[in-house]
Amino acid sequence: ATAAFGAAASRATASSAGAWTETANEAVAYLDDGLMIVDQGRIVRIGDYAALAAELDAGVHLTDWRGRLIVPGFIDTHIHYPQTDMIASPAPGLLPWLENYTFPTERRFENPEYAAEVASFFLDELQRCGTTTALVYCTVHPGSAQAFFAESHARNLRMVAGKVMMDRNCPEFLRDTAESGARDSEELLRRWHGTGRQLYALTPRFAPTSSAAQLGACGELARAYPDVFIQSHVAENRDEVRWAHELFPGRRSYLDIYDHYGLLRPRSVYGHCIWLDEADRLRMRDAGALAAHCPTSNQFLGSGLFDYAAARGAGMPTALATDVGGGSSFSMLQTMNEAHKVARLSGHHLSALEMFYLATAGAAQALGLQDSIGTLAAGAEADFIVLDPRATALLARRTAGANSLEELLFAFAMLGDDRAVAATYAAGRLLHRRPDNC
Ligand code: GUN
Ligand code: ZN
Repeated sequence: ATAAFGAAASRATASSAGAWTETANEAVAYLDDGLMIVDQGRIVRIGDYAALAAELDAGVHLTDWRGRLIVPGFIDTHIHYPQTDMIASPAPGLLPWLENYTFPTERRFENPEYAAEVASFFLDELQRCGTTTALVYCTVHPGSAQAFFAESHARNLRMVAGKVMMDRNCPEFLRDTAESGARDSEELLRRWHGTGRQLYALTPRFAPTSSAAQLGACGELARAYPDVFIQSHVAENRDEVRWAHELFPGRRSYLDIYDHYGLLRPRSVYGHCIWLDEADRLRMRDAGALAAHCPTSNQFLGSGLFDYAAARGAGMPTALATDVGGGSSFSMLQTMNEAHKVARLSGHHLSALEMFYLATAGAAQALGLQDSIGTLAAGAEADFIVLDPRATALLARRTAGANSLEELLFAFAMLGDDRAVAATYAAGRLLHRRPDNC
């Protein structure tokens, strides 16, 4: 049997978009010998090779990926591109890590040339790991967002990003003001939101580094531009939670601070959500806000264990994220590995199908991007990756004995990393191909 694509295909899995409540099992479709036809950056047909091959025009370029698995490109719902150069920095916890490593590193983004160079490396690294969409924090400097969007746009990647807003409780050299933060964010979103595949996210770093005036200004922008994204951090670390309560004493909970300023709504994404209570989880659900679960970061910084069982129980929209540089890997496969173990500790068996769903169609659904990304359904943007079950000796040995799709995907999630990603395509274009001899 053959596989092709470009017009092309291979033995392919395709996650179709579905309602958030739809289980991963219902969302998945698997083709043992598939053909995916891509034209002008979109998927136009997908089906069994034997049924579709006859429809291919002569002269169509066919890429044969037999023996590999095509899946939608991964979606990382929370990552900091300026922290690329400080990944794997040791610290006793979140707040000293921010003070001693993060802020000095982010200062360097006052230089747009440095920002452009880091953005380029960062996107290369995402491509190596099979991540085709990410929700990206820039720094407080408008030029950092400009540099990121310019690089992403040049590659025709679908990225969501924003300039960080912070006007207090951080070094002077990283501060904006309520007014300048709002003005610069508005300029950037008018320039980039909807330019090509770029999307903007209003990005107040977290409540402790924004004054009430800044969160208020951010809420006004959110009302004025209802289709932009919002991203921030919440309830990551117990010291941080205590600090947020001290700074906003009138609010019921840390999450309620954001709610008070109109920052909880569909297309808002909150990193971590570890120390939420049940009322918070239900509020996230009712608001249509997304929790970005960042297991490698939470373990690395000792922040705590995300309660996956409680998140599921409350129906809180949840997706996976690396949170580099707090996270210790750019790979969504490594992130699945850690998420599985953390979910186990909360009493939930997180299946591989569910993890792949969370990293593709589930994330897209929660972000309102289900018609564009996270799926191989006809009509979607052609962002997809090729996974190689023989990428490493151990993967080859384990996957040779896999008896189901679940076992195959589980092996990728537990044993895989960037080496498992044979190729990454965005909008139908090959952006990364791993040399065969690695
Ligand atoms: N909280 C506020 N800023 C940050 C950050 O850069 N990383 C993490 N992990 N948490 C934060
Ligand atoms: Zn973060």
